[in-house]
Amino acid sequence: MRPPIVELAGLSKTYGDVAALADADLMVRRGEMLAIVGPSGSGKTTMLNIMGTLARPTSGTVRIDGHLVDDLSDRGLSALRAGTIGFVFQSFHLASGVPALDAVADGMLYGGRPLRERRRLARQALRRVGLGHRLYNEPHQLSGGEKQRVAIARAVMGDPALLLADEPTGALDSRSGAVVMELLHELQRAGTTVVVITHDRDIAASLPREVRIKDGRIEHDSAVAERVGA
Ligand SMILES: Nc1ncnc2c1ncn2[C@@H]1O[C@H](COP(=O)(O)OP(=O)(O)OP(=O)(O)O)[C@@H](O)[C@H]1O
Ligand SMILES: [Mg+2]
Repeated sequence: MRPPIVELAGLSKTYGDVAALADADLMVRRGEMLAIVGPSGSGKTTMLNIMGTLARPTSGTVRIDGHLVDDLSDRGLSALRAGTIGFVFQSFHLASGVPALDAVADGMLYGGRPLRERRRLARQALRRVGLGHRLYNEPHQLSGGEKQRVAIARAVMGDPALLLADEPTGALDSRSGAVVMELLHELQRAGTTVVVITHDRDIAASLPREVRIKDGRIEHDSAVAERVGA
């Protein structure tokens, strides 16, 4: 069995008197692909941000790729983020006026590689997502689906082991959404661990594992249900 890449144990996060997460446990193994689903406000983004080390829990432990996040220095944390984790957001997060090639190349800014090398890798990543013909287009010259593919190219530039996507198809029509999902499946086939938050029941059902969250608690995890034979 493959080693875990995400281990969340007894995770809670409170904002004032709001419990965004309440004692949630989750384990994801390398190479898995899963959907996190649940009503608005149930804690999905909070959980993904904690997994991505962008936020810290109020209590509980987070282990990413074997590292206890609490034990890492700022430097160690940055290295973990840069080398292991890629993010994709619903709203693409692309700066206006920046051509696709630079948006992707800048994603590796902290990897210490020279610009020429980053551009070469960016071109490769954009070809991988089918945008070899849109290298110099700025966001306003791209469709929503193309923008999301640029964002995915940027997220996978350093070949992260873990790709975290928060509603990656939420702003897309169903056809562009399907293209983006197919791309995420391709990445998983190539070995990337892919975690997708989605509101779309069809998308959730099409993934190998489904984790349902409600009121900050994990209500159902198809992987756990299988293990206990429920
Ligand atoms: N920075 C914050 N400050 C205060 N409350 C917050 C903050 N971030 C999230 N919350 C609250 O925590 C709860 C969980 O929010 P979260 O964003 O994780 O939900 P979600 O499941 O991603 O919802 P959606 O599907 O609408 O994106 C909500 O009640 C939200 O209002
Ligand atoms: Mg959210």
